[in-house]
Amino acid sequence: MVTSIPLSSGTRMPQLGLGVYLVTDVAVCESSVKSALDSGYRLIDTAAIYRNERAVGRGIRSSGVPREEIFLTTKLWPSDYAYDKARAAIGGALERLDCGPLDLLLLHQPVGDVKGAWRAMEDAVDQGVVRAIGVSNFAVPDLERLLPAARIPPAVDQVELHPHWQQPDLLPFLAQHAIVPEAWYPLGHGSAKLLSEPAVVGAAASHGKSAVQVILRWHVQRGFVAIPKSTDPAHIAANIDVFDFELSPAEMAGIDALGKDRPMFRLPRWMMAATMPLARPRPLG
Ligand SMILES: NC(=O)c1ccc[n+]([C@@H]2O[C@H](COP(=O)([O-])OP(=O)(O)OC[C@H]3O[C@@H](n4cnc5c(N)ncnc54)[C@H](OP(=O)(O)O)[C@@H]3O)[C@@H](O)[C@H]2O)c1
Repeated sequence: MVTSIPLSSGTRMPQLGLGVYLVTDVAVCESSVKSALDSGYRLIDTAAIYRNERAVGRGIRSSGVPREEIFLTTKLWPSDYAYDKARAAIGGALERLDCGPLDLLLLHQPVGDVKGAWRAMEDAVDQGVVRAIGVSNFAVPDLERLLPAARIPPAVDQVELHPHWQQPDLLPFLAQHAIVPEAWYPLGHGSAKLLSEPAVVGAAASHGKSAVQVILRWHVQRGFVAIPKSTDPAHIAANIDVFDFELSPAEMAGIDALGKDRPMFRLPRWMMAATMPLARPRPLG
């Protein structure tokens, strides 16, 4: 049974879900979402910029799983950040997904008119079309700028987070502000270096689990939400099979000790800004 975590919005979020970044083939995206829901997932993470919201919506609708059991997240890209553009973009996401109110809507990057977009997201909560709002890739200074202007505080910050990059500055700030850390690159993007760490491999052997499962279990026990991506039905099923064992305090400490001081991926702000006009989501499928 997948555990869930309370959000400051008053709702709860499953601690493990499916991410669909780079899954741009319509049929593959739809079948991956369906396969995840069949395997017991109840959290799906997409974004306008992934250009697969229509396929995600179709996967959800064809799964037979009641919509109210599913926690659906999408994200707004900075090209849609001014208030009016964000309002229109939220309408566009709702139309493409066609699954009713969103469970979580995130600002994808901390650039552009963040405060204008945030007001549009707060209004969407008031209107009942979005249940919780949050951010992605926001560092402490980005949150320090947003928080004083926010009528509704962010419930989640989705950031790169895995045993090799444990966000030493950000995590204490998130805890202080009741913002749930959600891990992108939870498996370090499938990093062979991470998956072959002795602390991970050792724990995997003692529990009869894979290295991937041990890392996902570490995320759960640290109180994070993790959204591993896979299009392989066997991987999808294996990745959620992490709720029948527990890492010991020593095993957790061994993995905690792998923390390094650098992320694997960093998109410079000038590049985020440069990609903004190019990145308007197009309909897919
Ligand atoms: N907010 C942001 O800016 C941002 C940025 C990046 C990502 N994300 C979100 O985070 C999600 C996950 O990130 P990610 O996809 O880049 O990295 P990831 O989940 O850390 O790693 C995905 C890689 O691991 C492989 N994998 C998954 N399960 C496996 C298993 N059981 N055994 C072996 N290999 C396995 C996948 O290959 P197979 O498909 O072959 O299984 C894929 O190559 C994205 O889909 C997206 O939703 C958000």
